[in-house]
This record gives sequence, C-alpha cells and structure tokens, in this order.
Amino acid sequence: MKQFISANDVSDINALVQKALAYKADPFKDKALGQNKRIGCLFLNPSMRTRLSTQIAAQNLGMEAVVFNVGSEGWALEFEEEAIMSGNTVEHVKDAAPVMGKYFDILAIRTFPSLKNKEDDYSELFINQFIKYAGVPVVSLESSTLHPLQSLTDVITIQETFKEKRKPKIVLTWAPHVKPLPQCVANSFSQWINQWNEAEFVITHPEDYELAEQFTNGATITHDQDAALKDADYVYVKNWSTYNDYGKIYVNDPDWMLTNEKLRLTNNAKVMHCLPVRRNVELSDEVLDGANSIVTLEASNRVWAAQAVLSEILSLPKSLQRRDLNDQL
Ligand code: CP
Repeated sequence: MKQFISANDVSDINALVQKALAYKADPFKDKALGQNKRIGCLFLNPSMRTRLSTQIAAQNLGMEAVVFNVGSEGWALEFEEEAIMSGNTVEHVKDAAPVMGKYFDILAIRTFPSLKNKEDDYSELFINQFIKYAGVPVVSLESSTLHPLQSLTDVITIQETFKEKRKPKIVLTWAPHVKPLPQCVANSFSQWINQWNEAEFVITHPEDYELAEQFTNGATITHDQDAALKDADYVYVKNWSTYNDYGKIYVNDPDWMLTNEKLRLTNNAKVMHCLPVRRNVELSDEVLDGANSIVTLEASNRVWAAQAVLSEILSLPKSLQRRDLNDQL
C-alpha cells in the first residue's frame, strides 16, 4: 500500500481487517516496525477520534507522532496552481508539503469539503496536492469526499461482531441534522461495503439526497426507510447534505431519526455511527444508550484500523517510502 486515500488503495480488504484484529489482540507485536520513523498528522479541521487513534496507532508501532493543527496554528495554505497569492493565503502547498515531507516519513492529513463547489470538492484538490508535493506516503484522515480510516474501522467492527454463516444485511440510513454536513462518511462507507462485497447492502434516504453513483453503485437504494430496515443486521446512521444540488439541506424530517420503534423492524440490528453525533436529532437517546448501539466499540476500533494501515505503509520497500521530488517536479 503506497498511500491510503480510498478503498481503491487496498488490494485485499479482508486481509487488512485480519491485520487490524491481530493488532487488537496484540497491540505491541510490531513495536520495532516504526522505530526511528515519524508521522506528521496535519489537521485543517477539528477532530477527536481520528487524531487520538492515529497517534496511538503510530506509537503502538514505535513511531513518533507529531500533530499539527494547520487550520488554526499554521500559515493559511494556498492549494490552487498558479494562484496570485494577494489574498488571505500565506504559503503555497507546493512550498509547505515538500518541507513536511523532509520532516516526516508519513504524512496524514484531514481536510473537509467547502460544500460550496462540487467540482472542486470532488477533485480532492487538497489531499491530491499533498500527494503531489510531499514526496512521502500520504494517509487520509478524511478528505473532501471520503473517510477511509472510518470505513475500514466499520468493516472491522462488522466482521468482529457478526457471527452467523451468511451475509449480513447492512443498511445505511440518512438521518436529520441541523447543518449541512459532508457526504464523506456515507460515500466512503458505500464504497467500502460495495468493494468488500460480503453483505446485502441497502441505502435509504429521503428524495433529493442521492449520493454520487461512483460510490453507491452496487447497493439497493430506496426512499422507504421502514422497508430498508426490515431484517437488517446493522444500521449505519449518518446525515449528509445534498449531492446533486450541492451542499444543501432540503428536508430535515425528524421522522428519519432512528428510534427503538424503528429498530423493531430489524433483525435486532446493531447500530453504528461514526461520531460525533447530535443526540435526539440524528439518533435518539434510547438507541444510543441501548443494548443495540455499538458506537463506542466502533470508535475504539479506529486505533486498529490506523495501525493496520500504518503497518502496511511502513512495510513498503524503501524505494517506495520516499521519492525524490526533484525527479517528480
Ligand atoms: N469519526 C471521526 O472521524 O471522528 P473525529 O471527527 O472526532 O475524528
């Protein structure tokens, strides 16, 4: 694995899940792998789980992790090529990223979409500029359109908890929210469940909340939440803003919030959410505090997902770990 930006960077999802679960059973077994290596975790946006779990994962592998809140502590970065930097941006990513590439062996980056310009967001300009200019492997800590460490965690959590000898039925359901949120988690979950290809996968959302087909192709999509929930083994709850008429809230029908009454339609489904969650808006207290919720287990598994990914990158042949930017630019 030369980078970790999406499910497309993973050749064998099941093997990566097994690697993560092996780290969960024995966290320090590869403590020597990252010795004398350093990861820079760059945050252009806030985070709790991603930030802490990635640091812990790196430390479990013997790496030093340095966190830099670029968005609040660093110079405002410019990402557009040939920009005339007479506005608020102070430093171009093509100057900053190569420096960080010299400081670190791996760069991990969190960016969010603007939700204003679909083409810009879906071009993944921010993370692609880091990949282009850093000269070291890049790991996504959530990008404009995807959240692969979250999705790997979600597949790990489903594999860990599903004990039956059949495919689970997994339902991704839209939930209400008070502000427009990115499509990243829903896109990414769809991409990973489709590529994993070991589940019956249903996506349900109100009209006008269709996600990008490039991620949902392969899933059954319905606007009938009750029908979708029938016999589900897992219900993944998440809000997202509109994709077609980009970044809007069309309806915010509270009836889409998952309740115990709705859960009774399922096969005693386990309930997942990436967190943070707006209680009694996205998900009811009764579900979050009930026996079906596995959100804390899910969040705890973020460590093992990150550790498996960092381990793969640390195991790359030396020639692929660092490229000479002078050859590339
Ligand atoms: N799920 C997730 O990415 O959480 P944070 O935003 O707290 O990192």
